[in-house]
Amino acid sequence: MISAIQRLVLSVFLILSINVHGEKLSYFDESLPSEKRVELLMNEMTLDEKIGQMCQFVGEASDIDFDSKDTKSNYTLALGARAGMIKEGKIGSFLKVSAYQEANILQSLAEESRLKIPLLIATDAIHGHGMYMGPTTIYATQIGLAASFEPELAELMAEYTASEMRATGFHWAYSPNVEVVRDARWGRIGETFGEDPYLVTEMGNAMVRGYQGENFDTPTNVIASAKHFVGGGIAYNGVNGAPADVSERTLHEIFFPPFVGSIENGVYTIMPAHNEINGIPAHAHHEYLTDLIRGEWGFDGFYISDWMDIQRLESAHKIVDSEREADKVAVLAGMDVHMQGPGFFENVKSLVENGEIPISRIDHAVSKILFAKFQLGLFENRYTNKQFVENTLLKDSHLELALKTAQKSMVLLKNNGVLPLKKDLDRLVITGPNADHQALLGEWARVQPDNNVITVLEGIREQYPKGTKIDYVPIAQHHKITRSELSKVAKAAKRADVVIAVMGENSLRFDKNKTSAENVDRPTLNLIGNQIELLEKIKASGAKLVVVLVNGGPIASEWLTENADAILEAWEPGMFGGKAIAETLAGKINPGGRLPITVPRSVGHLQSFYNHKPSAFHRGGFYLSSRKPLYYFGYGLSYTSFEYSNLSVPVTMSTDDNLSFSIDITNTGDMDGDEVVLIYINDKVSSVTTPVRKLVAFKRIHLKRGEKQTLNFTIDNKNFALLDRYMRSVVEPGEFEIIIGDRVKVQTINVQL
Ligand code: GLC
Repeated sequence: MISAIQRLVLSVFLILSINVHGEKLSYFDESLPSEKRVELLMNEMTLDEKIGQMCQFVGEASDIDFDSKDTKSNYTLALGARAGMIKEGKIGSFLKVSAYQEANILQSLAEESRLKIPLLIATDAIHGHGMYMGPTTIYATQIGLAASFEPELAELMAEYTASEMRATGFHWAYSPNVEVVRDARWGRIGETFGEDPYLVTEMGNAMVRGYQGENFDTPTNVIASAKHFVGGGIAYNGVNGAPADVSERTLHEIFFPPFVGSIENGVYTIMPAHNEINGIPAHAHHEYLTDLIRGEWGFDGFYISDWMDIQRLESAHKIVDSEREADKVAVLAGMDVHMQGPGFFENVKSLVENGEIPISRIDHAVSKILFAKFQLGLFENRYTNKQFVENTLLKDSHLELALKTAQKSMVLLKNNGVLPLKKDLDRLVITGPNADHQALLGEWARVQPDNNVITVLEGIREQYPKGTKIDYVPIAQHHKITRSELSKVAKAAKRADVVIAVMGENSLRFDKNKTSAENVDRPTLNLIGNQIELLEKIKASGAKLVVVLVNGGPIASEWLTENADAILEAWEPGMFGGKAIAETLAGKINPGGRLPITVPRSVGHLQSFYNHKPSAFHRGGFYLSSRKPLYYFGYGLSYTSFEYSNLSVPVTMSTDDNLSFSIDITNTGDMDGDEVVLIYINDKVSSVTTPVRKLVAFKRIHLKRGEKQTLNFTIDNKNFALLDRYMRSVVEPGEFEIIIGDRVKVQTINVQL
């Protein structure tokens, strides 16, 4: 502990940039605070070297044999001009790097530069280090984590993913995706936390904490990236990158909160969205990027553009007529790092030399980027090695968590008693395009070695090792089930007690037959192709029909809801998804997940979300169809039952109070299980319209059969606030309903001035 005098003396030396021996301080001195090291380094940088830090390129060397002896020369050759630019200090970060050896080579080229500034290596580590070339731990995708209603799982997933990233020489996760979804056709729902702002915020905050720790200053932290700001989840027709036309009120009430939460939790980078927001492309939005997010919300990190989205200011949005103007508009709006490729460096250099971009804007961007490099310890710790990789990837604790994220994400949508499956089944048939397919992994994951994944077929065989006859009828493609496959399934089903049909989507990143995910949006919410025809054959056979859904976005099928004997929504449960699904069907685990997104009745019923305004359907509904969705946000069944009692809520509170109350939950069934307790409020009469319900708290608990727990909640006062007609946040006096679960318990409270 240093005294006040010592602190004063140290400050004087720091200001003078000399040490106690009168020697010039060096930015290599790791005993200095990162802020000081940034200042020392920037004082030595040329304009070229500063702009270089704002430039990102891609590695893309997955065809290089990194185990051969002349790897560095081969790879440096493959890099072409990029190798020279790194040595000249004209590149600050890389994306699409495939192997730890590649990361080491890139860093070694950077160490040959004049100032030896290390590179940031970034990757889309969305639910594990999934884009890395080697086998890695692949967890359930975000939508499944959201269904678990356990932010702790998301935090640990991010923490473990960060450690696997750093072991392989990566430092920057383009995650979490904290977009709120309001159009279920969007292909990217699997990588989001769903439709509710509060749940998305809590899950996103947890991931930021997991990736960055306190302030990303340990060797197992990475910097995170809250993305994409903003409105991709409400773009026209659910089309990725299409315009988002949404009111300022809805932006503030629904789409902004998760970003505010990530910033409050210290997220160090933000990625703007592809789309325009009400006429202004996100990448050119000075009012949001600088005035709002930095000015009002206090964001203190840096922006990374999304893929070629600065160039698209010209080519797609047509708000400028050249890439040079695009670079100018984006950098002046607040953009700091360009993803990716040539042109940006030269344009920005010319713009600064012509006085069209002030050097202060460049210095601001570069100071943020360098701070991350010092904070992450890259100057002292820029290389990794095979031993570190082998000791860290696929650690037992990571694998255990991967299974747990899958188990906790299971949502039971329907069960007429067929589940859990009996132990003494004579004959089981398992079929469906996802029965033995790595679509379980979801988006942002490479195909893993077979021994790194447990498919549903493998999981079922593990659960029913002997006695039960298991017939497997493979289905080759998701969207085109052949006549021969259909007849084989029909024949097999006739002999079966139960048929398990594993259906849904395929979001695997590099699969040529993927049916969903980035840039593969869905024109229907039904099961893709002729999957329903397969299920009809099974239904007609008389066997019990258990449908397992593997998918990112909701599957809306009235036929399925009416005709399946059971429906298990498994989302994209990751590497051990097949084990978790089989354990759930066999009753080894009791499903406790809840829907993080509404399942509409059909694509024609969009937009469909639970927190709609009171007048959404006050004049009736649809022709010959119910207006109600198939399943609302928050829905999920269990193999046991729970009773809520003793809700004790104060009858009044003041407009600036928090609300504290308790409730008892008892497991009244004959099986242990998890219950997600959901707390909503409804402002019964308000000066502007407010949603019929708004989630303000949740807690997942485990109760043994017969066990009772008392839960205590404190709802922060800000949850009772609304934005009045002048967009001012106020808590109005009046009556509020406290709604527990799906109206399991409702109590009115009077908020008084
Ligand atoms: C994509 C995605 C973004 C991702 C980036 C880099 O376009 O929109 O989420 O991080 O490119 O792969």
